[in-house]
Amino acid sequence: MVKILAVANQKGGVGKTTTTVNLAASLAAMKQRVLLIDLDPQGNATMGSGIDKRELPVTVYHILLGSKQLKENRLRSEVGKYDILPANRELAGAEVELVDLQQRETRLKEALQPVASEYDYILIDCPPALNLLTLNGLCAAQSVMIPMQCEYYALEGLSDLVNTIRKVRAHLNPDLEIEGLLRTMFDPRNTLAQQVSDQLQQHFGKKVYRTVIPRNVRLAEAPSYGVPALHHDKLSKGTQAYLALAGELLNNAAQSAQNR
Ligand SMILES: Nc1ncnc2c1ncn2[C@@H]1O[C@H](COP(=O)(O)OP(=O)(O)OP(=O)(O)O)[C@@H](O)[C@H]1O
Ligand SMILES: [Mg+2]
Repeated sequence: MVKILAVANQKGGVGKTTTTVNLAASLAAMKQRVLLIDLDPQGNATMGSGIDKRELPVTVYHILLGSKQLKENRLRSEVGKYDILPANRELAGAEVELVDLQQRETRLKEALQPVASEYDYILIDCPPALNLLTLNGLCAAQSVMIPMQCEYYALEGLSDLVNTIRKVRAHLNPDLEIEGLLRTMFDPRNTLAQQVSDQLQQHFGKKVYRTVIPRNVRLAEAPSYGVPALHHDKLSKGTQAYLALAGELLNNAAQSAQNR
């Protein structure tokens, strides 16, 4: 059964795209069939997967507006070994154009249906806003992965996101769950980061992934080569952390299948 995960946090620069790209590559390295959906007009996940966002005839924009089908317009990240539906700045217009369309929040969900069974994981990289694009991500997903930096205002921002998830659950996608909270760019020597991390665990308990993503320059460099970090420096701490996260996800999935 496919698992569809939205990687979301309305706060900018917390590591959503880094997580989506590196988790996709890590799951693919573990023989999982992965589709990455870039739902951000910045197109960072597209570029980070080795695909030039400037020269794309079809992007997620056309899929959301219904002028093209996903099945014929997926691309392959050869380096990452996963499929991708790319995005570029054209997608910024979708927000306005979608407003007048019917079922505007569930366009991505509908588009995914014909291909979903071909994958083990579908990862959706959401933009840094609680807008219609992110809503499409949350409606298409079964669960949300929330990357966050352990900073002073992080918990405050989290409550907005958790409220949005509650509303989506109430009105649009009753099955939506929080898959987990991921601590990113973590520096264990930073006392405040440690305190916020403790608070996070008090509030969210088991929902906080055991895997912590450290601050690691290899993760920041890899996109400039158009590759996931796994294919830039396999032994770096950042690469190893995302492999561990993929392992944790697979373990959790195996356990919940056993309990069923
Ligand atoms: N663990 C890490 N260590 C070092 N740098 C990181 C790490 N994770 C992300 N970065 C860097 O931090 C910046 C923001 O990361 P990223 O683009 O993944 O965040 P984002 O949440 O997707 O941002 P946006 O909200 O703009 O979409 C990037 O320059 C990225 O390379
Ligand atoms: Mg991003």
